[in-house]
Amino acid sequence: MDKFVIHGGKTLKGAVTIGGSKNEALAIMPAALLASGKYSLGNVPELRDIATMGRLLELMGVDIERERDTLVVNTFRVNKFEAPYEQVKKMRASIYVLGPLVARYGKARVSLPGGCAWGPRPVNLHIEGIRKLGAKVEIRGGYIVAKATRLKGAKITLDVSSVGATGNIMMAASLARGTSVIANAATEPEITALAVFLTKMGARIDGIGTSRLEIEGVDTLHPVDERMIPDRIEAGTFLVAAALCGGTVRLEMCKPDHLMAVISKLEEAGARFELGDNWIRLTAPRAIHPVDVKTAIYPGFPTDMQAQWITLMSLSRGSSVIIDSIYFDRFKHVPELIRLGADIDLNRNAAIVKGVKSLTGTKVMSTDLRASASLVLAGLAADGTTEVLRVYHLDRGYERIEKKLQMLGASIRRVSGREF
Ligand code: EPZ
Repeated sequence: MDKFVIHGGKTLKGAVTIGGSKNEALAIMPAALLASGKYSLGNVPELRDIATMGRLLELMGVDIERERDTLVVNTFRVNKFEAPYEQVKKMRASIYVLGPLVARYGKARVSLPGGCAWGPRPVNLHIEGIRKLGAKVEIRGGYIVAKATRLKGAKITLDVSSVGATGNIMMAASLARGTSVIANAATEPEITALAVFLTKMGARIDGIGTSRLEIEGVDTLHPVDERMIPDRIEAGTFLVAAALCGGTVRLEMCKPDHLMAVISKLEEAGARFELGDNWIRLTAPRAIHPVDVKTAIYPGFPTDMQAQWITLMSLSRGSSVIIDSIYFDRFKHVPELIRLGADIDLNRNAAIVKGVKSLTGTKVMSTDLRASASLVLAGLAADGTTEVLRVYHLDRGYERIEKKLQMLGASIRRVSGREF
């Protein structure tokens, strides 16, 4: 169990290259189950979650080779249609194999994900969607057991604009007989990229990028090559780090369009920007202004940036309110930030943050991916030394974050070994 040791107070400056999108890759890899063959998937970051998805697919008979940032995925020999609890409990996105397996092989046995660090994250919309496409679905012994000779097109209106459910249903509907409609579909860039990938495979999807997707099922799809879009949450995390630590930072290989909600809030906080097609330059605010945020579905302020925003507001010149409307209980980072000297009150799904003059380094515990990112950011800005424990949470979604921060002048190092 590694930890990070951070000596705070360093100004960040220079350039950093943003990696490929974790959340797109976690949808595209299972999509390869929809057609037998060889796929070359480029710009795929080296992350624990990507490795976990790889192992899950290998259990089904998929061959996966990594060549630097490219995964060569071969689905010729798929012979098992099960996602065991041992794998699924590590990562909820494992549920993405459900739709492709039922659509392509007519059967799937997928473990229910179980609990999450921050409260209930049901998969009822995934199950209902597959059922509406005509699959026979039972929950047996903690597993979703689904069967179908051939899925049939259907109209599905999602109660909640769920990223995962939209992805799963869209993949399944691509091979259904007839036309499906997904209303209140998610429009996150990762879902739009998945729709583009499926279309390259031969799927017929209208309304890509909108909340109403119309999918005309086809009999077969074919393998294709693809490059992942940039990871907008990694980019957002580095922007907040730069705003927090002073200095000017340039992000390369990112997509400013996918970050407009974060960029406009950072401007309100006093940061200045120059934007290019695939780069962003941020100049930090002299003083951080307090800015309220309410998370929302895309293109609103992403819930995956909520924790990092709370860290920034902890050092603002005033009070702000951060509401998470997607996950009501995603505040495990708050007690740890308070250990660093932040002044935060929680009231249901709202954090009331009173800016303080400074944070003071100490030992803090990671609890989940984005919470741990907020603690690293706090450590970068804090006086003295901060130790962020259990950084395996970070390794799930940030590729060599300490190396990238070091390149910007941060004093951060990874200490490997026994339990800290
Ligand atoms: C995706 O999770 C992302 N994960 C999450 O990022 C992100 O926080 C989330 O979307 C919201 O943007 C991946 O893409 C792998 P949802 P997902 O289904 O698909 C409710 C990160 O840090 N819901 O859009 O699981 C649910 O409880 C991760 O990279 C149901 O009620 O999110 C939540 O309140 C963490 N029933 C809301 O919808 C369902 O069947 C949004 O969840 C499904 C979801």
